[in-house]
Amino acid sequence: MTFFSYRGGILHAEDVPLDRIAAAVGTPAYVYSRQALIANYRNYADALDRLSVRICYALKANDALAVIGTLAAEGAGADVVSAGELRRAMAAGISPSAIIFSGVGKSRDDIRLALEVGIGQINVESIPELHAIANVAAKLGKRAPIAIRVNPDVDAGTHDKITTGRKENKFGIDIDRAPSVFADAAAFDHVDPIGVAVHIGSQLTSLAPFEAAYGRVAELVRTLRNDGIPLTSIDLGGGMGIDYQGEAIPEMRDYAALIERTVGGLGCHLTIEPGRSIAGPAGVLLATTLYIKEGDSRRFAILDAGMNDLIRPALYEAWHDIQPIREPDGDAPDRDQTYDVVGPICESGDTFARHRRLGPLASGDLVAFRHAGAYGAVMASRYNARPGAVEVLVDGSEFAIVRKRPTFEQTIENETMPPWMTPPRQMEDV
Ligand code: LLP
Repeated sequence: MTFFSYRGGILHAEDVPLDRIAAAVGTPAYVYSRQALIANYRNYADALDRLSVRICYALKANDALAVIGTLAAEGAGADVVSAGELRRAMAAGISPSAIIFSGVGKSRDDIRLALEVGIGQINVESIPELHAIANVAAKLGKRAPIAIRVNPDVDAGTHDKITTGRKENKFGIDIDRAPSVFADAAAFDHVDPIGVAVHIGSQLTSLAPFEAAYGRVAELVRTLRNDGIPLTSIDLGGGMGIDYQGEAIPEMRDYAALIERTVGGLGCHLTIEPGRSIAGPAGVLLATTLYIKEGDSRRFAILDAGMNDLIRPALYEAWHDIQPIREPDGDAPDRDQTYDVVGPICESGDTFARHRRLGPLASGDLVAFRHAGAYGAVMASRYNARPGAVEVLVDGSEFAIVRKRPTFEQTIENETMPPWMTPPRQMEDV
């Protein structure tokens, strides 16, 4: 099912033409399809229902309350990595018991909040963190339900910056050391070691690394049982990669079969934490072409969206499909025109794409970056004092702003000039 398609020559989100949204809210704008979010969630839920796998949506992909709320209404739990994400998940209606706290550096305040609200599980990433959790739990007089995140030393075959399951990555506890860490954890009065967690990276487009990692986890669970540490839950980490540029994505039923084959027979509660595959294809970033600049060797399309709005191309050399909102005329004489698509920010890294065929594009034309629903708005910054994108949710023929673009006043409201500063000197007119 496609939720972004040309109808009558105009790119739509569900039943709403994107030019209508741009006219109403301005650009840059992130536009999310509620039905796409639901369909992507159900793709997991339907395939994994038989195995009773709990789906804890990874908020880091897109933390807009309306997005979390859409998924909460479908029955999603949450995977969070900060107190802020934990509070967002709860604010969107997810019960703390359905929330997993992941992340390599939880502060004592994070841990305290998690235990106070009754978090479902904390994934422990290091031995000092285990001690911190035990300590905070003891002070609060609470029991901390924990899983140990193991590092299975599996290469996920993804971009270096988002691979997490190799020995040299900062994540998890070496799987060979896990039995002794579990034994330590079991000895703490206020810690309940309930599970093991694994996450080897993001944007995986092959099942083989999952199979290797889950296989090692299953082996560990059996070893621990023999050691008298009966685990009840396994957290399988993030979800499948997505088709940004024609990547072949494994079928969900093959993924489900793999889960069943590797960890299905252990009698554990299973959880996955997909983010990208739920939110990514469900969103676009809408931008306006400010200028077409003819360089000596290049033709630049300069947009009103910059790397501060969508950093993935600058940070990971990521490829996002870019579609003009007005469907290009396949018969136009200049249909093969290519553009370097850039933002307005003052550095050359602010380049979204090179030599992109976009049909003839003119100043004022709207374009959409596809698959921008995940790791888009959440990674935005205020660089160059840019206010950022507005966020919109579409449902059928309706749409609503779900996160406003901040006003200038809001962007400076937390700043002060210390009273002891020298007042501004009147400058001559430039
Ligand atoms: N669970 C854990 C512990 C994770 O670290 C992640 C992602 C996920 C779940 C969700 O994985 P997903 O289903 O989205 O693959 N900013 C990067 C992606 C970073 C992913 C970090 N961890 C990007 O734009 O590609």
